[in-house]
Formats: sequence, C-alpha cells, structure tokens
Amino acid sequence: MNIIKAENYKDMSQLAAQKLINQVNEKPDSVLGLATGSTPEGLYKEIIQAYKEGNVSFKDVTTFNLDEYVGLTKDNNQSYHYYMHHLLFDHIDINSGQANLPNGDASDLQEECSQYDNAIQQAGGVDIQILGIGLNGHIGFNEPGTPFSIQTHIVDLDESTRQANARFFDSIDNVPFQAITMGIDSIMQSKGIILLVSGSQKAEALAKLVNGPVTEDFPASILQEHANVTIIADQDALSELSE
Ligand code: F6R
Repeated sequence: MNIIKAENYKDMSQLAAQKLINQVNEKPDSVLGLATGSTPEGLYKEIIQAYKEGNVSFKDVTTFNLDEYVGLTKDNNQSYHYYMHHLLFDHIDINSGQANLPNGDASDLQEECSQYDNAIQQAGGVDIQILGIGLNGHIGFNEPGTPFSIQTHIVDLDESTRQANARFFDSIDNVPFQAITMGIDSIMQSKGIILLVSGSQKAEALAKLVNGPVTEDFPASILQEHANVTIIADQDALSELSE
C-alpha cells in the first residue's frame, strides 16, 4: 500500500483531486468509483474548481457510486443521489446518464444489485475507486462480518453506522435501516483504489487497516491484498501509525 501523508483535510482533498484529474486527462473515458460521506466533500469541491478553470472535462467519464440507502427516493435530500448531484454532478459536464448510483427505491432490490454489477462490468470495470472508511472498518456499507466474496448486495446497517450518519438527518429515527452497497469483491475488482482518511477519530481504524490482520471482522483490512491501493491521509489520521 502506498501511503501519502497530507498536511490537513484540504491538502488531502487536493492531492486526491489531482490524481483523479490526471486519470481523466490521460484516459478521458475513465470509469470512476465514487463515495459519499463527509470525507470526499473537499475532493468534489476541488474537482469542480478544476473543471471551472478548464483543467479537466468529464464528458466521457462514467461513474459508479458505492452505495445508496434503501427506501429513499432520488430526490430525497438525504439520498446519496441527491448528495452526488448537489455536491458534484450538477457542477461538472458529466453526462447524467453515465453517473450511476444503485437505486435504493427499486421495486426489486435483488435485481437492482445484479444489474449494478453487470453495468460496472459492461463499462469495463472501475479504473479508480475512491473510498472512505467507517470507524468500524466498513468500506462502502460492508459492515464487519460481511464475506469478502460478496458483490453488490443489500445490507442491514450497523447501529454504530446509523448513529454516525444521524448527523445528516433530522433525527436518528429517520436514518434508514438498510442500504445497497457494492460488495467487497466488487470493490476489490477496481484497477486502482484511493482511500481518503482524515481526522484523529479515524486514526485507530487506519492503523488497524494497515497493520492489523486481514479479517472479515474489519472489512477494510482486505485492502492489504489489493495490488494498487493509495491511502491519502492527513496527519491527524496518521497519528497512530509509526513512521
Ligand atoms: C460512503 C461510504 C462509507 C463512508 C464511510 C465514512 O459512500 O461508502 O463507507 O465512506 O462511512 O464516512 P465519512 O466520510 O462521513 O466519515
């Protein structure tokens, strides 16, 4: 694993944006895997700025997001559809038909999962997947105990994940209990992975990811077995890793 030390959140976001911009400039029809949550918000701001300055175009890019809550419509302002359009897609020249998220409101959720994996394959696979990490080691919404072999699927969210994400909702009661997520196997098929980690509250999770055993009890540990992972972490997040 390649670990890049960022000074702070902004530096982390800029370093990640530069990597994505280089990728798209080298391969304009890149397939990017995207994440939501607090961590990539700065990255998306940097990308929008680079687009507005004419440094990159996303017109031939295809994206696949990691996950979406079950039961929220696309226009619900807590849905990941809304997040992605609001924080990125509406501000760049991506073709909205090529910006994909799982449909958490599909009538047949199992069918939605298998169609999502097929769509990723048909697009040629993900060139670079952006990831954040949960305090319990989840990536996407693959909670501890999820088999490494699994592809896109429906998950019951851990109570700790619902609590952590409650900050985005009016009340914890409104946080969905389920989500659709790309599985660990889907994520591991990406050609390259960039994991972003910021803040001291993530330091323990990052240390476990890098130095702990590879175990389904800590899903992110599987990244040790991927051939092309770059971790971009700020100093606070790196505070529990030795030099
Ligand atoms: C989001 C996702 C999650 C988050 C993780 C960290 O699409 O898949 O795994 O990356 O929960 O969230 P933040 O960045 O809010 O700490």
